[in-house]
Amino acid sequence: MLSYQHAFHAGNHADVIKHLCWIGVINHLKKKNKPFTLFDTHSGAGEYQLDHAMSAKNKEYESGVSKVAQLSPQSSLLNHYHTLIQTYFDKGMYPGSPMLSANLVREMDNVHLMELHPAEFEKLNHVIFSQQHAAKVGGSCHVHQRDGFEGIKALTPPQPNRGAVLIDPPYERIQEYTDVSVTVKSVLQRWQQGQIVIWYPLLSARADKKSQACSAMIASLVELGIPCFQAELTVIENTEEAGMYGSGVLVLNPPWQLDVQLNDALQEVAPHLGDNTAFHLTWLVNDN
Ligand SMILES: C[S@@+](CC[C@H](N)C(=O)[O-])C[C@H]1O[C@@H](n2cnc3c(N)ncnc32)[C@H](O)[C@@H]1O
Repeated sequence: MLSYQHAFHAGNHADVIKHLCWIGVINHLKKKNKPFTLFDTHSGAGEYQLDHAMSAKNKEYESGVSKVAQLSPQSSLLNHYHTLIQTYFDKGMYPGSPMLSANLVREMDNVHLMELHPAEFEKLNHVIFSQQHAAKVGGSCHVHQRDGFEGIKALTPPQPNRGAVLIDPPYERIQEYTDVSVTVKSVLQRWQQGQIVIWYPLLSARADKKSQACSAMIASLVELGIPCFQAELTVIENTEEAGMYGSGVLVLNPPWQLDVQLNDALQEVAPHLGDNTAFHLTWLVNDN
């Protein structure tokens, strides 16, 4: 059953770390004048109205993107993120990962957006279609109503084989942690150079089983021996009852210098996201 709706969480601290990382990956792919393909396995609705009842319920964006919007960033990746969100933020909106991809790609690039939830898929399809109609987004965007774990296996490797995958499941079911590791292994068997960004929650002892499943997911991917780092942003103290106290991204085959750029951006923004925030980045398999 699909019950997760990203509108409740749009623009929160988890979106900040995830979207910074995804923008960094896309920017690097754009350095070469050669086409690439982006895949978003769990796309969500594409963009969010922050005064909508769902986003306004807990106003999670207030401790995330609202803080970013108030800054005059020094680091280049944070500055780029700030510029991209400002256009939306001025209209009371926040762009999801599909709109970040659609706004950043060039005419020669491809984007595959997958979303299983029928209502979220309809919203995504409408947003992408209307932006394409108004010629506001670049590249060729394909919207699929399908299971992202099945879809990414069917659609990879892309031709030509440059590109990246964002995997951002709701993790409502514990099985999703295993689904991620099985899927990523299968994709990398056929597409060794694919750059893969996996978002994951950091959960307190209250959700011990899911927390263990998350650690097992990361450990099984590290065993592949492919270059990878994890970057984690914690926003509250990890007490037993804290629930989600932060989140992280595991990046496989990361582009050159993404670690430095992400580190600079998050070291700069983290102190503005709360009194108890911390950020660290760790290489788990280093290719040096
Ligand atoms: C965390 S949200 C995605 C947010 C989006 N990536 C962003 O950053 O803006 C997760 C989405 O995955 C969808 N979903 C859940 N299971 C799925 C599956 N097996 N395949 C594709 N989409 C799925 C949910 O309906 C939800 O919209």
